[in-house]
Amino acid sequence: MTIPGGSRIFDSGAAGYERTIAITLRPVARRVVDGAALQPGDVVLDAGTGTGNAAALAVGDGRSVLGIDGAPGMIEIARRTVPGARFEVMDFARLDVADETFDAVIACHSLLFAEDRVAALREWLRVTRPGGRLSLSVPGPQDLTPSIVYREVYERHGISTAGRYPEVDDLGPDAESAGWVGARVAADPTISIRLADEGHFRAWRDLGARGEATRDWTPEQHEALTREMLAATPRDVDGAYVMPFGAIFLTARKADLDR
Ligand SMILES: C[S@@+](CC[C@H](N)C(=O)[O-])C[C@H]1O[C@@H](n2cnc3c(N)ncnc32)[C@H](O)[C@@H]1O
Repeated sequence: MTIPGGSRIFDSGAAGYERTIAITLRPVARRVVDGAALQPGDVVLDAGTGTGNAAALAVGDGRSVLGIDGAPGMIEIARRTVPGARFEVMDFARLDVADETFDAVIACHSLLFAEDRVAALREWLRVTRPGGRLSLSVPGPQDLTPSIVYREVYERHGISTAGRYPEVDDLGPDAESAGWVGARVAADPTISIRLADEGHFRAWRDLGARGEATRDWTPEQHEALTREMLAATPRDVDGAYVMPFGAIFLTARKADLDR
């Protein structure tokens, strides 16, 4: 399988991801899993599982959990670190899974990488059984994401931040146009990304540096940007770098044909 566009930076950057963002996203994954109201014995899909954060929390009570991701490097780590779940390399927009397989689909901070959000949500609906549930998160609202901390730095370096994250008001309508019902959206502006020290910050930057906008830059250009970003990032009392990020949570369900 060709690695989907949204997975490219995560494949070679998987080890750095595991040490940095995966840790800081755990409380968000917890809320995503809680939002799915999982039942004993449920069959669960974690779409864009990464290193298996949400899948790990969904395991238990006899549930069967499949985590899929487009980045083989992420799946390799998930297989090694999350016992009890199954992991496959797969594009979440074209799932190699039969219709109506899952009781619940969970997706922590992965939908934002979909080329076509509604098409991905429609694919997730296809593999959900009638009455099944969806629970996901994305970063936001837009003005809380790193765009705000780094706006001036990015502008100085000619990096556009326009349209990078889904808008709060778009998520519910996107889910409903894909066919989900009862969509509920809640934004939590208190969520932040915490990077323990400069090494962790640089590992996070290394992921960003693989993105389209700056992939062809020289090492000197990257270093200049990283230094300015380090200087602009708020620090905690223990020295950690803390970026406001926010999180938007969406829950919805697939209509039950019996009702
Ligand atoms: C920010 S990470 C989140 C990972 C994980 N859910 C977590 O909570 O740590 C986004 C993940 O979505 C995956 N992804 C992006 N586009 C994808 C696609 N089309 N199909 C499958 N996975 C995709 C990436 O490879 C990456 O692992």
